[in-house]
Amino acid sequence: MSKIAVVTGGTRGIGEGISLALREMGCTVVANYAGNDEKAKAFSERTGIKTAKFDVGDHDAVTQGCSQIAGDVGPIDIVVNNAGITRDGVLHKMTWDDWNEVMRINLGGCFNMAKATFPGMRERKWGRIVNIGSVNGQAGQYGQVNYAAAKSGIHGFTKALAQEGAKYGVTVNAIAPGYIDTDMVAAVPEPVLEKIIAKIPVGRLGHADEIARGVAFCCSEDATFVTGSTLSINGGQHMY
Ligand code: CAA
Repeated sequence: MSKIAVVTGGTRGIGEGISLALREMGCTVVANYAGNDEKAKAFSERTGIKTAKFDVGDHDAVTQGCSQIAGDVGPIDIVVNNAGITRDGVLHKMTWDDWNEVMRINLGGCFNMAKATFPGMRERKWGRIVNIGSVNGQAGQYGQVNYAAAKSGIHGFTKALAQEGAKYGVTVNAIAPGYIDTDMVAAVPEPVLEKIIAKIPVGRLGHADEIARGVAFCCSEDATFVTGSTLSINGGQHMY
């Protein structure tokens, strides 16, 4: 499949797995990142995948970044909105900034990327947008009102945009990962994480490539009739 794909937060964690899986499918992949130049450079050297630095929460930066990518490698056919952060804390300790940054990046990033790329997909009558939600957007999670709200918003965003893209050959789907062995999950305090893993029927954390395979399916020609759906990949933690 020779398509141009952009994966936000695509140089680390789940995003790295997704970048590799799409490249494996034959796509030309550009992996976006926001801050960690060192990891992005190492990723690019290791994989040969190009990177593009911009903050997905910054509307103008996304417009500029996507038009640069389109100029460099061609019109963007596939977007995977994977970039996300956590600012966990119970509500009574959470600051406005903790709330706002998570909404700006995790949910605002999906809007910004779609705004920059969906019109072109619609005109060309082919496109794939895959948004990375979360089990915690489906089930809620203690200490994550910001993250759960943003991820839950992603699931609604997906279903709404899927309706707009359907007759133009643009599918919009979400993946809802459970707890995956990334830096983000490693930051959860050990005793809390142990209790969470104890509630995962499969009995372990997931791996980035297990999410990436779901994304690859949603982007493939096999998934032409799949739109507005959410694929839960969570080891049975939440059956939704
Ligand atoms: N349900 C009910 N009560 C809970 C609870 C839970 N799940 N977790 C903690 N509590 C209770 C504790 O028992 C404690 O009660 P007492 O005061 O009566 O003893 C109280 O809440 C305070 O708990 P903490 O000491 O943990 O409070 P804290 O302020 O130090 O930390 C926290 C709170 C930051 C939310 C911490 O519990 C935490 O990090 N939790 C993990 C949150 C999480 O799962 N994040 C996921 C990150 S990965 C990700 O998001 C990726 C993805 O998509 C899945």
